[in-house]
Amino acid sequence: MEKGRELIDRVERAVREVRDHGRLLQAVVRAIHESSDRYDWTGIYLLQGEELVLRTYLGPPSPHERIPIGKGICGAAAREQRTIIVPDVQQDDRYLACSLETRSEMVVPIFRNGQVIGEIDIDSNTPDRFGDCDRQAIETVAGLITARLPGSAGKGEQE
Ligand code: SME
Repeated sequence: MEKGRELIDRVERAVREVRDHGRLLQAVVRAIHESSDRYDWTGIYLLQGEELVLRTYLGPPSPHERIPIGKGICGAAAREQRTIIVPDVQQDDRYLACSLETRSEMVVPIFRNGQVIGEIDIDSNTPDRFGDCDRQAIETVAGLITARLPGSAGKGEQE
């Protein structure tokens, strides 16, 4: 997948070249966001204690800057420790709305030593936007950046 390879290359370069982890998160969010014109909101949450805290994003501002584990699609992905793809957010009771235009969502946990330390969240205004290629590419990105992120799962540690 051409686009996926381009994204991975861009993230690998950022991981090598960007020292500051805040800037790295911004670079990674931008690379993901620009990898598809149908990714309409892209953000990275990091786990602090029992909450996912929004660190950086592109797209409209979200009211959900802190999400407890278990709440929303994001909280469900953290609790279940797996990627969640929601083809139609209007049919999912767990969904916490960010933009009224959002139709589908994918949340990919970032693991370190088998524990969730954060998540990559992508919303699309297109129904059923996320498939296996998206999942594989974003799970690869999560694996590439994990060693460069601050903190450790569940300890509420900050940079
Ligand atoms: N939709 C997410 C909340 C985050 S916003 O989409 C940015 C959820 O249901 O957890």
